[in-house]
Amino acid sequence: MISKLLGLRIFEVEVSSLCNVHCRYCPRELIPESGMMSRETFSRLLDGLTLGGMDSVSFVGMGEPTLHPRLPEFVRMVKARFPKTHTWVTTNGTNLTDKTLPPLLAAGLDTLDISFNGLDPATYEKNMPGAKMEKTLGHVDYAVRTARLAGGRTRVQINYIVTAENAESEADIQAFWRKRGITHFRAQRMHDRAGSASVVAGMSTVDRAGLNGRPCVRSAVMPFISWKGEVLHCAHDMRRENVLGNVRHESWGDIEARKREILRCGQWPAICAACKDPLRHDMLEKMDGVVRKELMNRMKDGLLAALNAPVRWFRGLARHRRSPQAGSSALQPSSLGVKTMEPITMPIRELADEARLDATQSALSK
Ligand SMILES: C[S@@+](CC[C@H](N)C(=O)[O-])C[C@H]1O[C@@H](n2cnc3c(N)ncnc32)[C@H](O)[C@@H]1O
Ligand code: SF4
Repeated sequence: MISKLLGLRIFEVEVSSLCNVHCRYCPRELIPESGMMSRETFSRLLDGLTLGGMDSVSFVGMGEPTLHPRLPEFVRMVKARFPKTHTWVTTNGTNLTDKTLPPLLAAGLDTLDISFNGLDPATYEKNMPGAKMEKTLGHVDYAVRTARLAGGRTRVQINYIVTAENAESEADIQAFWRKRGITHFRAQRMHDRAGSASVVAGMSTVDRAGLNGRPCVRSAVMPFISWKGEVLHCAHDMRRENVLGNVRHESWGDIEARKREILRCGQWPAICAACKDPLRHDMLEKMDGVVRKELMNRMKDGLLAALNAPVRWFRGLARHRRSPQAGSSALQPSSLGVKTMEPITMPIRELADEARLDATQSALSK
């Protein structure tokens, strides 16, 4: 059981439960109250944690993280305290612009994980209403180029949902992306989020429910922290009914002790009885497969970075000789000759302080 031996944890942090897309398989509208995590809540969360090199902080949750104006700052805060901890952002890709992306790369983001479901506009726009395929493709291309020009430190990866409809086409999906310079992938089996998402055509039917009372890897190694600071028993608890505690006013130790007690006594919340998440279904073997892949990815990235270091050094030297200021704005796409995309108009990007953020949150959640 690799994950347990290594003590791996993946902290899923919901910086935003607001979103600009309405994916047909995503039940996020069931969340009773939506908003964005304050800096104070995020800071409290970090205060309570001790993270190591096998831990990850994944900015994901049930909304679109790139809509949060402080996302780069949050990544930077993690890297400043825990430099070895892997940081992830999972995004629908619609907001990867010259305003949002360079600050994330500069903050030291390790993985940019882009959700893209469909290879033609009709399928993509049916799966992800509100997003336009051609436009998002432009954002993905921009991300690949910019990450590469910034030194290739951030892994740009595509994730896609595998359903009965596309299960046969995984090779085609990866071939499509390889042509666009993507070499890392994450496949997710579609599931109904413990009964929260209505069953849609193509949803996997082989998963079985009723694992209540059996160990759950998701629950054990993937703590989920909502935008309000609530630590949920499980990410799939859309209605936020099984809250273990709140990082705003409780210590992480107390919250974890509560969770351990639940796991020890087998007092699983009712939601677990309907769970069909493959991460649970396939139990530890599946999770360990994910961990193995992640470990290999990190080793590959480390090796490539080491091999590329002299090349980058020579390139930097050559640039410096041509123009003394060239190195000072390494992450400005314009200085790199990168064609930038028109940003999606989301008013919150312009916000600079907590007060204005609150005002925008209430406007967006209407
Ligand atoms: C809830 S989204 C939040 C992050 C961001 N908005 C995005 O779409 O990437 C996190 C991930 O869950 C996936 N997802 C959503 N509903 C799902 C479902 N029913 N089954 C499997 N994966 C799902 C999305 O495709 C995405 O990769
Ligand atoms: S983009 Fe992400 S959060 Fe938004 S609806 Fe789709 S899966 Fe849900």
